Amino acid sequence: METRKTQVVVPVLLAIMTLMVSKVVFAGKDSLHERHMAELQAVKASLVRRNLPGFVSPPPTPPQAVPGPRVYQVISYGADPTGKADSTNARLKAMEDAFDGPNHGVLMEGINDLGGARIDLQGGSYLISKPLRFPSAGAGNLLISGGTLRASDDFPVDKYLIELNDESSKLQYIFEYITLRDLLIDCNYRGGAIAVINSLRTSVDNCYITRFGDTNGILVQKGHETYIRNSFLGQHITAGGDKGERNFSGTAVNLVGNDNAITDTVIVLRRDWVMISGQANLLSGVHCYNKATRFWWNRDLLKLPGLTQNRIVNSYLDYTGIVAEDPVQLQISGTFFLGDAFILLKSINGVVRGVNIVDNMFSGSDNGVQIVQLDQTNKAFENVDQVVVDRNNVNGMATRSTVAKASVDGNGTSWTVDFNQVLLFPNLIKHVQYTLVARDGNAFPIHAVRNVSDNRVVVQTNAPVTAQVYVTVDQ
Ligand SMILES: *[C@@H]1O[C@H](CO)[C@@H](O)[C@H](O)[C@H]1NC(C)=O
Ligand SMILES: *[C@@H]1O[C@H](CO)[C@@H](O)[C@H](O)[C@H]1NC(C)=O
Ligand SMILES: *[C@@H]1O[C@H](CO)[C@@H](O)[C@H](O)[C@H]1NC(C)=O
Repeated sequence: METRKTQVVVPVLLAIMTLMVSKVVFAGKDSLHERHMAELQAVKASLVRRNLPGFVSPPPTPPQAVPGPRVYQVISYGADPTGKADSTNARLKAMEDAFDGPNHGVLMEGINDLGGARIDLQGGSYLISKPLRFPSAGAGNLLISGGTLRASDDFPVDKYLIELNDESSKLQYIFEYITLRDLLIDCNYRGGAIAVINSLRTSVDNCYITRFGDTNGILVQKGHETYIRNSFLGQHITAGGDKGERNFSGTAVNLVGNDNAITDTVIVLRRDWVMISGQANLLSGVHCYNKATRFWWNRDLLKLPGLTQNRIVNSYLDYTGIVAEDPVQLQISGTFFLGDAFILLKSINGVVRGVNIVDNMFSGSDNGVQIVQLDQTNKAFENVDQVVVDRNNVNGMATRSTVAKASVDGNGTSWTVDFNQVLLFPNLIKHVQYTLVARDGNAFPIHAVRNVSDNRVVVQTNAPVTAQVYVTVDQ
């Protein structure tokens, strides 16, 4: 905003140069050398002048910014890189200055482009006693990187160390393209690490987020497109098998918004590894583990409340399952579930529609745990529509599917194929196909499907025959 003054810079500079040259010519008579220098300068100035045909007209693209790097080094603001003294104010001042830097136009309406300004933590570790917030809403194109932030013992437990937030702003989106990179954020079991509220295109990249309290490591609320990638989140610093893990709590990432992604990220947590209550979010390449015992499943699972439209793909759920409540348009594929981890579809209002659970691997320890389970204690699922659970490979667990094939051999007039061991939904066969192959070469029986209740397909013939009946069903 205060850079407009630099637009007239070229003509003014040349005028000053000319004045300076004249001064040299008239003042520098003291020695032969100086006179020669003065003459040279005068010739140079006239050359400059001749080479500038547009001297009187404004230059075509006036420079917009005051020259100089836009890197705000926090140590020069008094931050203590040893982590002993409180660095909150120094950090806040650096953020203020970054916001007061030259304006490079706007990104989204109402969001000033800071031109890629960088707040550099200079590899230090800083003690923080209150949330680091930008001074005002409406800015973007800024990077904060390269150091450690630790919450002090009096850090407020209901806040986040870095908050992209401004309750007073009336803007729909308050920040855009803020990048948080290469940061270790240690919440000291007080509060969370990062809150991204009403912001657009925020990146959390290569961050290590730990020791958050019984809250969220990262909270994303409203806004669009927060991308969390190549990061590590865990309430406790552990490599698994921690003796105290039954007491771990918190939620690693709470996505209360749409169009976000968590990619190539490791989450170590006992409870709620990711909580999604928005839509069109993508989890890909997420490795989540906590070495939970199977008695703790219900507390360990991913929760997907509300209408989902989310995708969990190519991930590794290591002793960690998924709970999807009333899922509508949910994709879970290419994912490896280890340690009897399973998917629970939980009915709140009885809705399950457009769910693909396909092409995953499940591995367990022969305890008969079903790979996909239903919780219908609130209400039975009604209107089961476009639910496909199929093509999962299963080792040491009980398979569940919405598509099944089987055959029975018999001699008589009735054949029953019972699909209850495989089909996911009870008493639901929407489509059936069968073939009756009579063994007796002379037999040509009349046959028909008589009943598909209770996931049992009954085929009957008009006369006794020895036959094999092949059946394919679909829920
Ligand atoms: C878990 O927490 C309870 C009560 O908060 C405590 O008594 C117990 O020792 C803790 N367990 C471990 C393993 O830390
Ligand atoms: C099928 O059953 C009938 C009568 O119950 C019997 O006579 C016949 O031998 C049986 N056929 C075969 C192949 O078991
Ligand atoms: C179909 O089978 C169920 C038991 O599985 C039975 O209650 C029902 O009456 C049968 N329906 C018909 C049309 O035979």
